[in-house]
Amino acid sequence: MTSKNQNPCGRIALLEFNASLLVGHPQIDQEHQALAAHINEILQELMARTDREHLSTSFDALFDHVSRHFSNEERIMLEHEYPDTPVHALRHKKLLSELHERFRCVMGSLDEDLSEAISFIYDWFTFHIQTSDAKLADFLKGKPENTSA
Ligand SMILES: [Fe+2]
Ligand SMILES: [Fe+2]
Repeated sequence: MTSKNQNPCGRIALLEFNASLLVGHPQIDQEHQALAAHINEILQELMARTDREHLSTSFDALFDHVSRHFSNEERIMLEHEYPDTPVHALRHKKLLSELHERFRCVMGSLDEDLSEAISFIYDWFTFHIQTSDAKLADFLKGKPENTSA
């Protein structure tokens, strides 16, 4: 669920981190929440038409944040010998690659690619959490939390 935001286009909304995005693993949920807040910061910068140099720095920071989160999840998977680790890790890799490409397009043509890039961010954030990450969290239920993130 998202809430409307005041913006010139009238169709860009911030991500609302609600119960539908909780997977039931405290560390993963906490990291997703932090990522949602970070994504919203970028969305606000995009809507405010922040200058390109600043946006580029912001995109790099978000990309690093997402990369760290994916690495943390992959470490948890390995620690618990999660059988779907290769598939999940491959999805992470593809998402990072796509995210990088979208950012590149937005930086090339802010007006034309903005709404598409935002839709992409919403979609991958919610879909990946509600499918791959939820499946991982189900697998981890009942296992001791011995992560070192
Ligand atoms: Fe994941
Ligand atoms: Fe995740």
